[in-house]
Order: sequence, then structure tokens, then C-alpha cells
Amino acid sequence: MAPMTRSRAANEGNVPFDIHEKYYRQRAGAGLIITEGSQVSKQAVGYINTPGIYTDAQVEGWKGVTKAVHEDGGKIFIQLWHVGRISHPDFHNGELPVAPSAINPHAKSFTPKGFKDTVTPKEMSIEEIKQTILDFRNAAKNAMEAGFDGVEIHSSNGYLLHQFFNRTSNVRMDEYGGSIENRARILFEIIDAIKEVMPENRIGLRLNPSLNGIFGMEADEETIPTFDYIVEKLNNYDLAYLHLSEPFNDVSEIDYLVSEIAKRYRSMYKGTLVINAGFDQEKGNKFILEGLADAVAYGKPFVSNPDLAARFELGAELSEWDQDTFYTPGEKGYTDYPTLQESKA
Ligand SMILES: Cc1cc2nc3c(=O)[nH]c(=O)nc-3n(C[C@H](O)[C@H](O)[C@H](O)COP(=O)(O)O)c2cc1C
Repeated sequence: MAPMTRSRAANEGNVPFDIHEKYYRQRAGAGLIITEGSQVSKQAVGYINTPGIYTDAQVEGWKGVTKAVHEDGGKIFIQLWHVGRISHPDFHNGELPVAPSAINPHAKSFTPKGFKDTVTPKEMSIEEIKQTILDFRNAAKNAMEAGFDGVEIHSSNGYLLHQFFNRTSNVRMDEYGGSIENRARILFEIIDAIKEVMPENRIGLRLNPSLNGIFGMEADEETIPTFDYIVEKLNNYDLAYLHLSEPFNDVSEIDYLVSEIAKRYRSMYKGTLVINAGFDQEKGNKFILEGLADAVAYGKPFVSNPDLAARFELGAELSEWDQDTFYTPGEKGYTDYPTLQESKA
């Protein structure tokens, strides 16, 4: 199950509670669940009601979730998230959100007062970068305490780490910018820091190399060479998996981007490869049979089909998801999708 923000931690401390327990338990048949992005610090947030993994109360809340999933035979990794510049001063007592460089993504932040335009963020100092690395490490430590089977570093979809990778969002001239190696540095420092507090083979990470024109991310000629460098370097680690997304939109007309991500990176990456975005059962099986990936992560189909794996096994019909309740508080559109058996009854 692919990571999906569902914005149900509608309480002051952004603490997961019973409703999360129920939702994830319903989906334990996935095999491996990757949770919604969960902020690694107070500063890492950019959307209302997303859960965190940096306070004791949040760790306690997640314990209920991991217990429920394990009781029902599933495994669960938590996605560790820092949104960087996809945020708003309303989340930070009027202070600016932080990013590798002071460049406005011209995107939207989902604040307590509705969607607001992003602002020009503050360029992170070296000290702030080092603190962020420690925040990821602390979040991973908390995740182990909360009973997760592993963590997925969210280095994808235009958020903080992706902002470091791209030349259009990172114009730094210190050791975190100016070259491919420097722009990728923070990711490897985070992996190295997390390795200190948990087994390396329980760390996964997510990349979306051809993301363009979404979440304020603009690709250029150095984008794919940057991801090539990252993927090659990941071979030096014994990670749980590398989770890649096929392009979220059509990039076939852009000659410096790659339309077939699994095809490019399967031969480059030696470890376990998870592929995602826009897959149905047939396409998923095809990729596995052709050796293009070791596993497929399904997102939206899991919103409305808690028993998706069982439905695939039976060749059963799938329920449609309701986009209007992706991010609304409460049980509606969250825990009220029936399993096949329940809908038959
Ligand atoms: C409601 C919703 C929330 C999402 N939240 C996250 C998230 O927190 N982290 C992440 O990496 N991707 C997130 N995504 C992207 C999904 O993981 C996935 O890449 C995308 O839905 C495409 O896969 P699919 O076609 O199987 O749905 C989200 C997608 C949806 C629909």
C-alpha cells in the first residue's frame, strides 16, 4: 500500500488515534503498508491534520496502529516527511518555512484557514540542515519505539529532500549545492544517521525522478543525471527497498526526462525495487513478470478497497474512491469502505 496523506489527525498534537488504528487494520492484507507522510518535527509540517512522529504522544498513538496491523498479519513502515517550502507561515507562528534556497515554489499549502499560496521560504543554514538530519534520525528512533517494521524516507514529490536534488530549487553554493553530488548529500547523510538507530535493511526510500510541473518542482537537464547518481550510490547500502514512481504526468515531449522509470532504473539498482503510480492488477503483474520491479505499491485503489489483495486474488470487482473525502476529518471516506464480504452481506 503506497503512502497516502489522509489528514485525520485532527487534534492539537497531530496524534494518531483509534480511527487510524481501524483504517490501517482494515488494510493489513496489503502485505506491506507504507503510512501517510508523517512530519519528523514541528517545522516539517505543511498540511493540516497530518500526524507526526516526533512527540511522545504521537509515538503512543502509533503504537496502537502498529499493534493492530501486526495482529492482523501485516507489516507497516512509516513514511518520514519534511515538506520544506510546501508550507506556510501560518504553521510556524508567522515565521517562514525553510528550504534549500529562498525560491517560492508557487504552490499551495493546506493551512487551517484553507489552501493558501506558498511564500518565498528561508534558506536553511548549515546548522538547520544538520538539525533536520538529526530530526529524521530521531523520528526513525521513535518509529522503532512505536513498533514499526521500518521507515520510508520521503525524498519524493517536491518536498524538502527533492527540493535539495533539483537545480531549480537549490541554488546553494556550499556543500549542499552547486553539483550533483552536493545536492544529493543530505539524503545520504540522513540514511547514515538513521542507520545509527535502526537496521539498515529496514530503511526504504522514495524517489520520483520525472516529476515536473507539480508541487512546484521544475525539472531540467541535470535532473535525471542527479537521480542516476543517487540510484547508483544507493547500491552501496543494504536498504529494504527503493520505491520509485512512474511520472505523474506525461513527460514524453520533454527530451531530458524519462517516461519509463522502472525500465531505466531496474538495471541500475541492485536491491529490491518497488514501483508505483497508476497501476492496476494487470499492469502490476506484467511489471513483475517482466522483471521490471519486485513489488508494486497501490495507492488510490487501497482508499476504497481495504481488502484489495483479496479482491485481486479473486479477480473481484473494485470499488471507486471518492476524491472529496481524501483529506476530510472523520470516518467518512476513510474507514467506511466495506470489504467484498461486507458488501455482499
Ligand atoms: C490522497 C493521497 C495522498 C497521498 N499522500 C502521499 C504521501 O503522504 N506521501 C507520498 O509519498 N505520496 C502520497 N501520495 C501519492 C501516492 O503514494 C501515489 O504515488 C499516487 O497515488 C499514485 O499511485 P496510485 O495510482 O496507485 O494511486 C498520495 C496520493 C493520494 C491520492
